[in-house]
Amino acid sequence: MKVLVTGGAGYIGSHAVRELQAAGHGVTVLDDLSKGFRAAVPSDVPLVAGDLADPGALDRALEGADAVMHFAGLLSVAESVSQPTTYYRTNVAKGLALLEAMIARGVRRMIFSSTCASYGMPVRVPMDEAHPQDPINPYGASKRAYERLLLDHARAGLVQAVALRYFNAAGCHPDGSLGEDHRPEEHLIPLAIDAALGRRPGLTIHGDDYDTADGTCIRDYIHVQDLAKAHVLALGALDHGEPFRAFNLGSEHGHSVREVVLSVERVSGRAVPATVGPRRPGDPPRLVASAVRAREALGFRPAFTELDGIVETALRWRRDHPEGYGSRG
Ligand SMILES: NC(=O)c1ccc[n+]([C@@H]2O[C@H](COP(=O)([O-])OP(=O)(O)OC[C@H]3O[C@@H](n4cnc5c(N)ncnc54)[C@H](O)[C@@H]3O)[C@@H](O)[C@H]2O)c1
Repeated sequence: MKVLVTGGAGYIGSHAVRELQAAGHGVTVLDDLSKGFRAAVPSDVPLVAGDLADPGALDRALEGADAVMHFAGLLSVAESVSQPTTYYRTNVAKGLALLEAMIARGVRRMIFSSTCASYGMPVRVPMDEAHPQDPINPYGASKRAYERLLLDHARAGLVQAVALRYFNAAGCHPDGSLGEDHRPEEHLIPLAIDAALGRRPGLTIHGDDYDTADGTCIRDYIHVQDLAKAHVLALGALDHGEPFRAFNLGSEHGHSVREVVLSVERVSGRAVPATVGPRRPGDPPRLVASAVRAREALGFRPAFTELDGIVETALRWRRDHPEGYGSRG
């Protein structure tokens, strides 16, 4: 198939481009490079450097496409609380412009990057796809809204869509050529690695009085290459089954913040200077996926089953690329 990857110059999208190529698919990337990097896109992949809602950019990017993987979006929970308009505009309104352009050209297949943040506070753990979706911040709400919009278009027979609800994406390409370069970085593993490498003064642990074994929050870390491979599996499954389906993508194992810190110390051989700060509002104590549905329907089997293995790939990238990708263009 020929696949348009929106956000393909970003962290997860660039890994998906690599897996699509490995599976023999043709790829085009649409990315405005607001958060992504030209260097993350292989030289043999056409890059349309433009906005998701720009008609001209969409025209060029959708040329000959059979399917779209839609990664482009904004993803900081904290930023979404202070700038809800920006989040709804990018994640919902611009995403709708993409969907309209697809439908106008007869492109009917869509795989969408959703998130466990679309569930809100867990009422049970592990969380399966039937867990209520009641998001507690504009980021989660914008992803929930886009899922709903896809469902309605799928019910109308206009698209065939899969929403993949990622838990915490982590790690970098095992060959060291692609990595995580969010600016500013907000994710725990790169922050802990930077603290270990002396690139930041230390790590703040947001609360150690949660109802967990060591008092710190528990999250489900899934390797970015496993996520990328799941997209290729979902592409193969798109033409069968219900017109809209949602799948959780997680490792189904929870690791506390302190366990992540210990893993970074083990793998790097260096101490992570850490201090305990106050809780962050809205942080649930435990978020762990049930990925039974993805296992059964897609054949999803994460290759990275150990936290140390995930951390090792992230450490390699950060050690070898102190400036990340460098400049965006
Ligand atoms: N990183 C995670 O742990 C995680 C977890 C759950 C869901 N997700 C979702 O996965 C997707 C990708 O996340 P990521 O970590 O790779 O983020 P990222 O910021 O690295 O990648 C997003 C890409 O989208 C591009 N983009 C943003 N707005 C655009 C616009 N208006 N037009 C064109 N391109 C635009 C950016 O330049 C960037 O390259 C997001 O939709 C995010 O919500 C990520």
